[in-house]
Amino acid sequence: MLVRSVLEGRELLKRNMNSNSQLQCIACQHEYSLDDQRLNCDCGGLLDVVHDLSIWSGRVAELKELFRARRNSDTPADRSGIWRFRELVLPELREDELLTRCEGNTRHYRFAKTSDWLGGFDVIFKHEGENPTGSFKDRGMTVAMSWAKRQKAKYVVCASTGNTAAAVASYASLADIPAIILISEGNTALGKVAQSLAYGALTVKIRGDFDTALKLVLESREQLGLTVLNSVNPFRLEGQKTIIWEALDFLNWEVPDWIVVPGGNLGNTSAFGKALMEAKEIGLISKVPRLAVIQAAGAAPFAQGFAAGWQHEIVTADTIATAIRIGNPVNWDKAVRSIKFTNGVVTSVTDQEIMDAKAIVDSDGVGAEPASCASAAGLKKLLTTGLIKPEERAVAILTGHLLKDPAATVGYHSGTLDKLESPLANQPVVIDPTLEALALALAKKS
Ligand code: F0G
Repeated sequence: MLVRSVLEGRELLKRNMNSNSQLQCIACQHEYSLDDQRLNCDCGGLLDVVHDLSIWSGRVAELKELFRARRNSDTPADRSGIWRFRELVLPELREDELLTRCEGNTRHYRFAKTSDWLGGFDVIFKHEGENPTGSFKDRGMTVAMSWAKRQKAKYVVCASTGNTAAAVASYASLADIPAIILISEGNTALGKVAQSLAYGALTVKIRGDFDTALKLVLESREQLGLTVLNSVNPFRLEGQKTIIWEALDFLNWEVPDWIVVPGGNLGNTSAFGKALMEAKEIGLISKVPRLAVIQAAGAAPFAQGFAAGWQHEIVTADTIATAIRIGNPVNWDKAVRSIKFTNGVVTSVTDQEIMDAKAIVDSDGVGAEPASCASAAGLKKLLTTGLIKPEERAVAILTGHLLKDPAATVGYHSGTLDKLESPLANQPVVIDPTLEALALALAKKS
């Protein structure tokens, strides 16, 4: 039965192979060929990859069954949490063109201690740190890198706060395309720098912040013949849409009230809105969950813009959550569209709130990097303010692995973080190697 479904799925794919996806400007709707290697419309607007969704109308049950059945298949394209949704991701690519590591398929957790801390609130944490390079970036990268390979990219490049860099370096190795990554010297977590070096990317540390690095990448791409793999590349967002579909599939397409996600360059915010728009248009869902985007208070232009009636804000960013240390998010306009479509909200949380939330989330035994825990801190804040009601249901995204930034975690538990308290520290203890000292340490712990 399942095998038959998968085979039928192959048929669906074949029937859909001639689908003609396009690039389309989100501001003026002008269309360009997918092969046009541009990042913006002539009018300056951001571009979407748009698909002909009408071919799926009336075939919702068929699609849902197909997506589910592929999880039992052995082929990499079916096992990937991105490509099992391939009809709605990038049907133009043939299966043998997919550069995939079966990314996605991340777990959904109910964490007891975190739920208690949230007053018993029913939240599912989807842990994107369980992707091959330890963050959600792999979902976007399998798509953008496969497309870059198809387009015969000479070099791939990104500016990054660290996780995009790790994913670019890793998937460039798979694609066998030279990779250049630009990171901010002194503001990139060690685990991420280690990955970029280890995977063989040309690792450039710039004397400047992420926003400066991204500006340089965008300015130099044409002269140097670089294919940009930041989330301004619309193919990235097609992959990141699958975070939403995977969570909905896990929930048997029963829509939660809220989806909570940290916001930096606003790629996820943009991709989530697009995933929900498409799911609604096809009929995969009948109701739309509200997006809650959480920024770090020191890097919160989007939260400020939301509060100011969508005035476009740019800030000089500073936060311990270095992954979201971004003051000029490139996907602003797409993210506004997502918030409007989902009747969403944007708020910010302090570094103290992020690190205390992280201590709680980590204590449930899986843990995540600081930026990820902005979603837990934001959830706490929105429950406290009453915007999220105790009886509602939420999915919160943990975006990156705990081990990405060991310095932040050890610093918190050792009480050595600059300007931050450590009320929930699990202090390391140093003892002489004696039975008495060990017994004393145990007695203190219990
Ligand atoms: N969480 C983590 C762990 C991240 O690495 C990022 C972004 C975000 C959240 C924010 O996501 O940009 O989609 O709003 N990191 C990028 C990078 C910018 O270069 O790794 P977003």
